[in-house]
Formats: sequence, structure tokens, C-alpha cells
Amino acid sequence: MRKSSSRAKIRKAVIPAAGLGTRFLPFSKAVPKEMLPIVDKPSIQYIVEEAVASGIEEVILVTSRGKSTVEDHFDISYELEDTLAKRGKTERLKTVQEVSRMIRLISVRQKEPLGLGHAVLCAQEVLGDEPFAVILPDDLIDSAVPCIKQLVKAYSQYGKAVVALEEVPDSRVHLYGIVKAERIKGRLYRVRHVVEKPKLKDAPSNLAVIGRYALPPEILKILARLKPGKGGEIQLTDALQELARRKMLYGYQFRGIRYDSGDKLGFLQANVVYGLKRPDLKESFREFLEKELNK
Ligand code: UTP
Repeated sequence: MRKSSSRAKIRKAVIPAAGLGTRFLPFSKAVPKEMLPIVDKPSIQYIVEEAVASGIEEVILVTSRGKSTVEDHFDISYELEDTLAKRGKTERLKTVQEVSRMIRLISVRQKEPLGLGHAVLCAQEVLGDEPFAVILPDDLIDSAVPCIKQLVKAYSQYGKAVVALEEVPDSRVHLYGIVKAERIKGRLYRVRHVVEKPKLKDAPSNLAVIGRYALPPEILKILARLKPGKGGEIQLTDALQELARRKMLYGYQFRGIRYDSGDKLGFLQANVVYGLKRPDLKESFREFLEKELNK
């Protein structure tokens, strides 16, 4: 029997991908923004790879109407595999097979975009009574140790919910959940309060909650009782605030660099950074960029 307590090991990760993606219109009208390529992989693949590299055993993808290509991407494609095998394209076959065999993936639907908190709640039945991670697919994090692994480690050490924190400039405070927190040691904070998208003058700090969370099962009960908050949506931030009130919330200022791939500028930046890391592209890409910038 598994331990059904908040101290059990985190084995499952929820990836909410049921949002409308309005910042990426018109692209996201018919194609999910999670399928936008960073070099040659859809951005969601980097997120699932981060889960795998963090020891997560099962991913619960929350999707919605029109997002079936995301599910297909992680499924087996018999025709493609058969054709590649017959043509002797072994390297490409391996690449395709790796994606579909990467991890156990379960997909659940959020029928209406009622908010991030509601999306997490849609995974409730699959999650059961064990702690879990939440990974937002827009936040692509380049780090030596996967970001969610850093949080899962802190969760197992302290037995409290842990959210990823990043210091943001004044001009971006109104875009995030912002915390009032005090440092316990190193990168770890005790979070007293979380405010969703405050005006700069009302913000308790510049420390923003970004898209990685290690959460106890209790948060599902809190979410189930929540009334719609800001924007008429069930907000994950409101449930985090309740955990903070119960002194059950920590924050961890993760090591790594984040790119918001759900935003046009972040998406372009990620493609440049990841493109420059690719051994097969980096030299010619750098040469091209230098030429462009010196025009
Ligand atoms: P965002 O608030 O960034 O919304 O959601 P969005 O629809 O993805 O994008 P924009 O802002 O309109 O461009 C944060 C995360 O929560 C998920 C989104 O898919 C995204 O990963 N989400 C949001 C849901 O799964 N369901 C919702 O009802 C809302």
C-alpha cells in the first residue's frame, strides 16, 4: 500500500493545457499553442521531458476541445513508425518512438475554461490522495537541475506545499501571483500571503509565483470549495492563499532561466537560446544572427 499522506513521494504531475491561448492568436485559433515548436520539438515535449527527468512516473494532461494533436504527439503512430522502419531511417524512428514511450500519460478534459484551479481539479480522480506536481506548459525553464525536481526535493524535505518563485521587475508585477514571504534559508521562503496580479502599489514584494508547484492532496479539497475569484475563474492562487493562511506554504527561488513560450517575445527568445545550444545548428545560426544584428 502507498502512503496516502502529504509526506508520500510525488509521483504524478498535472500539466494544465486547456486554456484558450489568446496571447498567441491567430496561431492558436486552430492549433494548440503547446504545439508551437522550440527548434524542432513542440514546447509541451520539453515540459514532459522535465517531468521524466525529475522522476515523475505519470503525467495527467488537462486538455480541451481542439487540443487532440497534443495527445496524438505522445501517442504511437504506427504508420509513421512502419514507414520509417521500412525506409531504414533508424535515427528518425528512434526519435519518434522515444516520444510515445517517454512516460505514462493520462489525459482528462476540462469542458469549459473555468480557470487554472478548475483545470487542476479536473485531474482529481486520477490524482487520488497523494501529493502531486503541477507544471504549466508556458513556462519553459532552462536549468541544470530540472525546476520541478528542485521543488519536489524541497517538498519531500519539509512536507509543505512549495511554489516556484522568481523575482520580476516592477513593470511585470501586475501579471503574476505575488507573495509576501520571508526567507527561511538559502532559496527557501515561508509564504505568508499570495495576491493574484496586484497593482504595483499593492504588491507585497517582487517575488512572483511561476508555473511549477509541488502540492499536497489537501489542496484539491480547498479547490473544490472555492468560489470563482478574479476574472470569474477558479483561481489556483486562491487555494494557495488558503494554504498560506494555514502555514502550509513554502516558496523556492529556483535555479534556472525561464522563458514564457505562451508569449510572442518569450517564444522567440526560447527559440534563439535553444537553437544556439543545438550542436547541429549552433555555428550557422550564430553566424546568421550576428549578420542580422550588424545590418
Ligand atoms: P493562462 O492564464 O496563461 O491562459 O493559463 P491561457 O489560455 O493559456 O493563455 P492566454 O493568457 O489566453 O494567452 C495558464 C495555464 O493554465 C491553463 C492554460 O492552458 C495554461 O497552461 N488553463 C487556464 C487551463 O488549463 N484551463 C483554464 O481554464 C485556464
